[in-house]
Amino acid sequence: MDEKDFYIEAFDNLPALVDNSETMKETFSHVFYDFLQLQHLYDSAIEVVKTYLNILDNEFSVKFQRNPIHNIESRLKSPQSIIGKLQKKGLPISTEAARKNLLDLAGIRVTCYYISDIYAIVEMLGRRDDFTIIKRKDYIKKPKPSGYRSYHMIINVPVYLSTHKEYAPVEIQIRTIAMDFWASLEHQLKYKTSSDIPPEIAEELRSCAERIAETDLQMQRIYMQINNID
Ligand code: GTP
Ligand code: MG
Repeated sequence: MDEKDFYIEAFDNLPALVDNSETMKETFSHVFYDFLQLQHLYDSAIEVVKTYLNILDNEFSVKFQRNPIHNIESRLKSPQSIIGKLQKKGLPISTEAARKNLLDLAGIRVTCYYISDIYAIVEMLGRRDDFTIIKRKDYIKKPKPSGYRSYHMIINVPVYLSTHKEYAPVEIQIRTIAMDFWASLEHQLKYKTSSDIPPEIAEELRSCAERIAETDLQMQRIYMQINNID
């Protein structure tokens, strides 16, 4: 999104903030500037992590003639959804409140080939002494009740700006292609149905997740057998 589009999008979604046109200009100009700065900082934090992940992936390919990463996606939460989430949490609508309370403004999803690749990447992210892990959740060892599997981390990432260094949290979801297959379809199914998913269908989805997880383990074993790894 370029700067102009960002302004337009922010403008479209901010009228709730202002109650009269007198204050409008003043409020907006400072909100816009804050939003742009926030967007730049979090975008840069995403770039820092993505660059590191690409370096790791290339190093693997030099050393082992294989890439552990299948795909990297990233997204920045939109101004509408930042405002929506702050409102839902009963917090003030400000970039300050967003930075303090929302840890998933910057998101990266890493899709790996094998389960062991996930843990290798988790370990390598943890090895960087300039990255601070704020939170981690292993939904592979302990899947969500829905059947959802992935490794989640929130990392505080340093961004070197022209005059100083700032930190921004980045949410990283690491999963296999198989886990991503299930999560993408389940997400779409949940979105398509406006009402809650009936329990028998939820159970069926959970059982799909289990079967997919078994296949994931089987593929991992085949990989290890072929490569003589124990
Ligand atoms: P808490 O916020 O501390 O509860 O944990 P968390 O941030 O690790 O998990 P949360 O439930 O907030 O989910 C974060 C993201 O994980 C979501 O935005 C989804 O992308 C993904 N996710 C979590 N649960 C599910 C699920 O049941 N199905 C799918 N498809 N995705 C999920
Ligand atoms: Mg969360």
